[in-house]
Amino acid sequence: MLITALLFCPRAWDIQFAMIKDAAGIKNLLGRKLLAWYKQHQRSLPWRKTTDPYRIWISEIMLQQTQVNTVIPYYQRFIKSFPDVRTLAAAPLQDVLKAWENMGYYSRARNIHAASHIIVNQWDGRIPDKLEEIKTIPGIGEYTSGAILSIAYRQSVPAVDGNVRRILSRLFAIRKPVDDPREQKKLRDLAALLVPAKHPGEFNQGLMDLGATVCRAKNPDCSHCPLSGLCRARLHDLQNILPTTRKTPAIPHRQAAAAVIRNSEDLLLVVQRPARGLLASLWKLPGGFIEEGENINDFLRQCVKEELNISIRVGRYLASVDHIYSHFRLTLQAFDCRLLKGNPEARACQNWRWATSAQLKKLPMSNIDRKILRWNRS
Ligand code: ADE
Repeated sequence: MLITALLFCPRAWDIQFAMIKDAAGIKNLLGRKLLAWYKQHQRSLPWRKTTDPYRIWISEIMLQQTQVNTVIPYYQRFIKSFPDVRTLAAAPLQDVLKAWENMGYYSRARNIHAASHIIVNQWDGRIPDKLEEIKTIPGIGEYTSGAILSIAYRQSVPAVDGNVRRILSRLFAIRKPVDDPREQKKLRDLAALLVPAKHPGEFNQGLMDLGATVCRAKNPDCSHCPLSGLCRARLHDLQNILPTTRKTPAIPHRQAAAAVIRNSEDLLLVVQRPARGLLASLWKLPGGFIEEGENINDFLRQCVKEELNISIRVGRYLASVDHIYSHFRLTLQAFDCRLLKGNPEARACQNWRWATSAQLKKLPMSNIDRKILRWNRS
């Protein structure tokens, strides 16, 4: 709760710091959940039947720009023709290009062939198992080295591709554009904190499979996600707008404040919205939209006065939740408040009532208010 409050509070101290603390906090649970899921749901793929670094390397290069299902027959034919790096190095480039025919991005085939000579001549036929060394091989960048080192050599290093960036941006509700190189570096650092010491290859491939089958770019299937209980995007209903890219149109970000007011019987004061306008006639906590530069305490006192003609004292900050409407994003902050003076009257609202938890459940209410109520009870 504290970490989420930090992440979402406009007065957040240091988001980076909070994220790192958050990552460290959930690392074990996330690893356990993901590995258990992977054990049961992993896709059966030919390169998963081996830990041979050569075969892992070939599969990863093929998978860089080509769909898994397309890669499978190419991979199988390639490995049959070139079962090890020495056979590949001894083959004419024409044969390698022929094996690649129709898969596209032929520079991958040329790089693989050139790399096979380097591996044979410089590394005695063994793909290096050190990050600085493996990265010197043509075609092996940050992602591919992470994949080979974790899958074939069982090293605890991240392999962060687009799928993994999407998962991380949702898991930690990161709104910064994932195609920004600075953000990509931060996401790699974040992933590095999460990879477990045991089964790093399965962990990385678990993320890949989760991204491909559950945490999809469009229509993520949160109800079948093993990480949904840890997911900040799911909690704040941001899964359909994250991740963002530099091209994502900026939608206005509005702020609102809500008063959590309880009476001596612990009933909660709720109001019914006007019959027209946003979320017409639904119930909500007292409060409303804040304009830029407004003092939040003054605003809330005045807003509740106008809505219900009561005076309140605004106490401690409780929680903050986000919601995306079609044309703006809303952050709603809730404050623990006390009724000082007056009996509620329906002024700028249709109706009001003191409600028990059971009664609140029956009132029609928007998602964002429900979320605040859930926070308030947890
Ligand atoms: N995409 C890239 N590498 C992959 C792997 N090892 N398994 C499935 N999909 C992938």
